[in-house]
Amino acid sequence: MRPRDPDEGIAGPDVASRSAIIAAVHTGRALAGILPLLPRSIVWAVAKRYVAGPTLEDALRVTAELARRSRLVTLDVLGEQFDSREEVMSMMAEYERALGKLEHDQPSATLSVMMTGFGLRLDPHLCWENLRRLSKDAADRAIGLTVNMEDSSTVDATLDIYRRLRAEGFNGVGLVLQSRLRRTLDDLAALAHLRPRVRIVKGIWHEPESVAYLDAQTIREKYLAILEGLIECGGYPEVATHDEWLIERSLGLLAGLSPAQYEYQMLLGVTPKRGERLIAGGHRLRVYVPYGEDWYAYSLRRLRENPEMAQYIARDTIVELFTAR
Ligand code: FDA
Repeated sequence: MRPRDPDEGIAGPDVASRSAIIAAVHTGRALAGILPLLPRSIVWAVAKRYVAGPTLEDALRVTAELARRSRLVTLDVLGEQFDSREEVMSMMAEYERALGKLEHDQPSATLSVMMTGFGLRLDPHLCWENLRRLSKDAADRAIGLTVNMEDSSTVDATLDIYRRLRAEGFNGVGLVLQSRLRRTLDDLAALAHLRPRVRIVKGIWHEPESVAYLDAQTIREKYLAILEGLIECGGYPEVATHDEWLIERSLGLLAGLSPAQYEYQMLLGVTPKRGERLIAGGHRLRVYVPYGEDWYAYSLRRLRENPEMAQYIARDTIVELFTAR
């Protein structure tokens, strides 16, 4: 479904929802709980800093703008947890279309993919066949591909597919490792001989203590341990974080490498000023640019992840939208 452009006119929520929203914003209550009450057009007004738009053309426009400002880009077609073959194949077709465009317009861009968007839960064999085909098409065009990491129940299958892709010679494929998960340093040790390209993240999924560290400082320290492990094995680290503490310490660990041997990564719309400073300091920065019809669920997740930011945006945007009319 295409988001309505805010300029097309905003259909407000009903009176009760509207009052609840304004009250929540004014009293400082977390916005997350009231987000689903909002009409999509209003969520879009908030979300558009995080999402390029519903179409590939939107993503290419944002990519070109970022490229003008010396940022690299990775594109993500929004959509995951598909439960029909049709949805999976239409996702596949969209990635193929993106590949075709990037080859000509933005050859330094990469693609990021979600296993469940390619059918992992529906049919693991279909998922493998899709990933293999996309990896080949990406390799033919010299475009990098990164396999995102989802919740802990998908890690074994994701690592297995990554290993099989590398065994078939698709060396342009990278993967994501989450510092939150207790298993990750062991996973990295088992992959070290491949000198992998790894995007290091804290991990966005809520996980139980049995599989994940819950303490924020431990998650940070494990993040740095993964980075050290990657540097040691000669892999290519992609430091994906907006956490100033981690950025500062990672800069220290990366000081012995040339800027071509690593990169920083940030989400579209998040801490752009910090990104600017990294670029000014001579580091490479890749921005994660999500796009697609599924922008709504993605946006709610981003805003829930950072209620403080949601609250801040709420004051700027939502109150204005509701009260200035
Ligand atoms: P932290 O959450 O502590 O954020 C530090 C500061 O950054 C916050 O205080 C805030 O100022 C700002 N910030 C962070 N997130 C924000 C947001 N959404 N809106 C506004 N401000 C925000 N996860 C995963 O499980 N699998 C994956 O494949 C990926 N892929 C991925 C790619 C890229 C390029 C990035 C940057 C991140 C991911 N993630 C991910 C998400 C990652 O796991 C993590 O949830 C977020 O990056 C937030 O963690 P930080 O390290 O930024 O720290």
